[in-house]
Amino acid sequence: MLNLSRRTLLKSAVVAGAYGAGVAILPRLSQALAAPTPLDIEARIIEATLDGKAATKKVMSYGLGGSVSADPSPPVLRMQRGKPFAATLTNKLDEPTTIHWHGLRIPNAQDGVPFVTQPYVYPGDRFDYAFAPPDAGTFWYHPHCNTLTQMGRGLTGMLVVEDDRDPDFDGEVAINLRDFRLGSDSQFIAQFKPRDAAKTGTFGTVRTANWQPEPVYDVPAGGLVRLRILASDVTRIYNLRLNGAEAMIIALDGHPVPERTTLDMAVVSPGQRIDLALRVPDSEGVTVSLEDIRPSTPKVVAQFRTVGTSLKRNLGDLGPLSENAGVDADLTNATPIPLVLSATAENAARDSICGTLGFSFWAINKVPYPGDSPDPTAPIAELKLGQSYILNVENVTPHAHPIHLHGMNFKAISSNKHDVTSQVSDTYLILPDEKVQLALVADNPGDWVFHCHIIEHQKTGMTGYFRVT
Ligand code: C2O
Ligand code: CU
Repeated sequence: MLNLSRRTLLKSAVVAGAYGAGVAILPRLSQALAAPTPLDIEARIIEATLDGKAATKKVMSYGLGGSVSADPSPPVLRMQRGKPFAATLTNKLDEPTTIHWHGLRIPNAQDGVPFVTQPYVYPGDRFDYAFAPPDAGTFWYHPHCNTLTQMGRGLTGMLVVEDDRDPDFDGEVAINLRDFRLGSDSQFIAQFKPRDAAKTGTFGTVRTANWQPEPVYDVPAGGLVRLRILASDVTRIYNLRLNGAEAMIIALDGHPVPERTTLDMAVVSPGQRIDLALRVPDSEGVTVSLEDIRPSTPKVVAQFRTVGTSLKRNLGDLGPLSENAGVDADLTNATPIPLVLSATAENAARDSICGTLGFSFWAINKVPYPGDSPDPTAPIAELKLGQSYILNVENVTPHAHPIHLHGMNFKAISSNKHDVTSQVSDTYLILPDEKVQLALVADNPGDWVFHCHIIEHQKTGMTGYFRVT
């Protein structure tokens, strides 16, 4: 049995039906060797009611596995840590697109950035993705082409990488937070205002969680429920709190926290995720609210209603999440890389098939990124594979920027604004006048984009890339 070649094994798996008897007889070998059947992911245009009033036309949405469900909520994609995953993207939009797997440390060719890692996918065309996610946790997937429009119209989904060593919860709710820019007729209005793009970004007009205003989810009374929360909004920074129940922060940006703390208020900025262990109240029929308190007036974003008799679970009994790789940077020998985030008046915007907003308001090290193009600017820095680096990021603008690195994780080692922990992350919210040091090991070869996840900032200059060789 152990001498079976890959070819023989694949053939027998096909004969047995890809996931049929072959898997039952040879579970371990098949998992390791057989290519998984690719999941169909369609990027498509639908109509959906987003504001609770009337159908919005030209909503963009992912359809998984050929599903044509009437439920417009953004599909959650699940995969297993370390197991091969494959998907075929079919572009049924009327413009080019790609998929980026935000937070997954996968090979560069799978990263989904047009011109940098792959060609954009034309309408009607397909593109195959295949990788094995190395970390368990809460991630997400979204396009990297004409991103403001495509994400602004709904093209995102949460990505859950499971690990069966994770502790048992009594329930799980995935919450994708997003505002839509709709007029009073429920139809899309201009996605941005240049004046706002040069400041905080342009806010949506209709707040949603999973594309519904204030949805209510049933949760088991007295249970421990895992809330996986994503800010996929293109602009809004959330200050989240729970009203009516206790919860513990168990992971940030997909990675277990070094030390669990009780949730008071958590800042979650575009691109970031937070995982909470919610201890549901004991009595039935109680409502717990997830609220955003930024800038001040609390706004309910989602609610949880208790059902059943109390399970009497205890937050303190919750075992640890399965661990992800740390960031073992060699700080004594790490090379510093200065990165100054600034505003700019120099206009470098170039027409692009993946969309340009036509302005340059922002720059990294004084260079405004011209946009997705076949001849992008030089890399911000060239990194040697396996070496340690410290990104000395300085925000000299009066606005906060959730800065995101593709393909590799980092950890903050110092900040002039607040205490840092050894949290592993892919997106860091840098405050005005903040100087932060982000340590990383350049362990993934390729060109990796680094950009602000306020998409108007990303698309008006605050983007660059590192080359790891
Ligand atoms: Cu979610 Cu280039 O990012
Ligand atoms: Cu920004």
